Amino acid sequence: MPVRTLKDLDLAQKKVLVRVDFNVPLKGGVITDDTLIRAALPTLNYILDQPGASLILMSHLGRPKGEKKPEFSLKPVGHRLSELIGKEVTVADDCIGLEVQAAAEALKPGAILLLENLRFHTGETKNDITFAESLASLADIYINDAFGTAHRAHASTEGIARLLPCAAGFLIEKEVNFFEMILENPEKPFVAIIGGAKVSSKIGVLESLLPKCSTLIIGGGMAYTFLKVQGFEVGNSLVEEDHLDTAKHLLEEAGKAGVEIVLPVDHIVASEFSEHAEPETVSEVNIPSGKTAMDIGPETLKLVKEIILRAKTLVWNGPLGVFEFEAFARGTMEVAELVAECEGTTVVGGGDSVAAVNKFKLADKIDHVSTGGGASLEFLEGKQLPGIVALAGSTG
Ligand code: 3PG
Repeated sequence: MPVRTLKDLDLAQKKVLVRVDFNVPLKGGVITDDTLIRAALPTLNYILDQPGASLILMSHLGRPKGEKKPEFSLKPVGHRLSELIGKEVTVADDCIGLEVQAAAEALKPGAILLLENLRFHTGETKNDITFAESLASLADIYINDAFGTAHRAHASTEGIARLLPCAAGFLIEKEVNFFEMILENPEKPFVAIIGGAKVSSKIGVLESLLPKCSTLIIGGGMAYTFLKVQGFEVGNSLVEEDHLDTAKHLLEEAGKAGVEIVLPVDHIVASEFSEHAEPETVSEVNIPSGKTAMDIGPETLKLVKEIILRAKTLVWNGPLGVFEFEAFARGTMEVAELVAECEGTTVVGGGDSVAAVNKFKLADKIDHVSTGGGASLEFLEGKQLPGIVALAGSTG
């Protein structure tokens, strides 16, 4: 990895400001999944183990758009972090200002101060330098461990890295190492499973992975644009007419590169797009008119099983069907189970596929489940993430 990690800095006796991604899901003020808080613990514990070091944490939560909305407060996160780390966590009433400044100055070695939601100020998303300076003035060292926000050039991820000695935390290091391995040195056979509703949101990742992989499995709503361009009947299934050419081009590129493309050979369909719709199996590629494809069928599962199990490297982004609806979750669930069974190196990225892996309780059987939705997609697209680039070019 080209950037420093926190092990390269002397943190003893320092106030260490850590950007974490604590953008956890909340329901009525209760955290429904604390994965993001747990993912930050190795970095936080390492810093607390350094003699005399203290921790100032900062994060966004949701999109309050510069307004102090109580439902976006980080207070429940502070409470959960305190339980997980076994120490008191003080949650400040704001992230900048005189009171925060005083709290940071008074911070004792080993103590933890969590700043209130960064996005209560528009300066955060605008990458405002004055806002970044106010944050930087609280500490001696800046660590970025917010992989999930690394694709945003915000004050707490990009601007601040120019103001303090800085390094990446262990979570960013781990995420980058897995994704770099996928992009630069995947052991073959390298299988990519790309799903999700739309081709348009996955063009970048398809173009980036196609020349590198041995087999590309395409599922989910996006598969039907590919099937239509091949001349199959797709019924009422989702087709992006303005991306038929994109799909055609990608299939031609795959042909030239000798990459095997696997599309659904059978389907689970419904007469309407609804949770309560009756699932019907269509045992061939063509879908009758009036029917909408909702999931991959049993023959497709048989086909992908062998491919997935023989992969030495596998990356999965995007569900294979409408897995939020119980009756159409089987394809995604079985693929998740196969990925968990695969003995090669397995990486799952992207909000929905990660949600699927968590829903089916398979995360601990996968080598790396990314904490970044948008960030992992942009990384796989081969884009530079501003939060990571900033660490390499900093004053540190
Ligand atoms: C995420 O949930 O993907 C990250 O926390 C980034 O959030 P954002 O899309 O609101 O910037």
